[in-house]
Amino acid sequence: MSVKYNGKHLAKFIRPEEYDAIFPQVELAHQQLESRSGAGNDFLGWLDLPVNYDKEEFARIQQAAAKIRADSDVLLVAGIGGSYLGARAVIEAVKGQFHNEVEDGLKIYFCGNTISPTAINDIISLTKGKRFSINVISKSGTTTETALAFRVLRKLLEDAVGPEEANKRIYATTDRSRGTLKQLADAQGWPTFVVPDDVGGRFSVLTAVGLLPIACAGIDIAALMQGAADAREEFSVCSKDNDAYRYAMTRNILYRKGKVVETLTAFEPDFTMMNEWYKQLFGESEGKDQKGLMPTSCIFSTDLHSMGQFLQDGSRTMFETYVDIKAPRQDYFIPALEGNFDGLNFLADQNMSIVNRKAMEGTILAHNDGGVPLGLIEVDCLDAYNVGSLIYFFWKACAVSGYLLSVNPFDQPGVESYKKNMFALLGKPGYEAQKAELEAKLNG
Ligand code: PA5
Repeated sequence: MSVKYNGKHLAKFIRPEEYDAIFPQVELAHQQLESRSGAGNDFLGWLDLPVNYDKEEFARIQQAAAKIRADSDVLLVAGIGGSYLGARAVIEAVKGQFHNEVEDGLKIYFCGNTISPTAINDIISLTKGKRFSINVISKSGTTTETALAFRVLRKLLEDAVGPEEANKRIYATTDRSRGTLKQLADAQGWPTFVVPDDVGGRFSVLTAVGLLPIACAGIDIAALMQGAADAREEFSVCSKDNDAYRYAMTRNILYRKGKVVETLTAFEPDFTMMNEWYKQLFGESEGKDQKGLMPTSCIFSTDLHSMGQFLQDGSRTMFETYVDIKAPRQDYFIPALEGNFDGLNFLADQNMSIVNRKAMEGTILAHNDGGVPLGLIEVDCLDAYNVGSLIYFFWKACAVSGYLLSVNPFDQPGVESYKKNMFALLGKPGYEAQKAELEAKLNG
């Protein structure tokens, strides 16, 4: 098994005929993707990426990762949005949230994804007395958060090791030929890696954008690609039994019934950043033209103690999708406690994964009884292969789901609005006209 979609807890909410009714639209979406004739068709590079990638660059990524792991204590990865989330999501899913603390060797910290002065100061502190390298990731090369962090980190590195050595420790992942970062990288002689023209940020984790940091974490990127390649094969069939399409249909059937929020949930904290990646993937792909499901996320049982009440009993506007991870990265055997002071000996003499699974099953039944439609995405475990499969499953489902919604799933026109306002308020040359207007609104 790679990734499966299990709809057994949806029976009360969706009739089989509803899948029959929507399936012709799936067939159209499938045909538009395959023939590359639908909206956003110049951003479909991800479709064949698991098999059709630059093998020479892939080898260079592995070599660069080996060098960084050998000559650095710390790797600072500067990037935001699609140039950040996928790499961190895969690393934490496969290696765990505490990989930096638990494992010896290279520590990997992500930055350039915020304008918080506190965050950049903390990152600077983390480099004190350490040999470090930088991977700056920006397709455009002009993203404020990333560029701002990078100018600080580059200076830090040059001050620490001198400009010549710094040039050997900066790795730029950016456009193949255009943009300020590409120009700078070429001028300084930094090793560069490519964000392909036809791959958007949220579909870029299997390019150098994600692969270099992931390889630096010691993860087998060939296995990651193989998992995605096998999922590509499996989810390329135009059938009602295609699980990626079944998930896409379910989302849209429920959306049309007024379920406007999806909560993606895993009973595994290591999935936290995968949740964040999913939110960008579906949020940027579908949230446009005043339409779209709002993607939200939970980690259970943690969030059952905060969001559990709402999900059980609040307004019935959402459905849940659980990522059912069949085997944890590590299990733990619960011993019996002499005297049973905490009253928990009924949980003893078994693996903690059993307790976690019973918590999941109990929650599914309770939320279902509370009126929450609930689907399961089943995956064997969170190793590199299966995470690769999951990524492709979500991509394919998202593309079809976006077409079912009649939006272009591959653009993100809305993200520019805040940037324009920010630049105007900060007095960026060229934005003078908007500045006074915005300040008048702020001062009310
Ligand atoms: O999905 C997207 O396109 C965005 O999230 C971008 O990846 C993000 O804004 C970073 O852009 P860039 O890589 O140009 O710095």
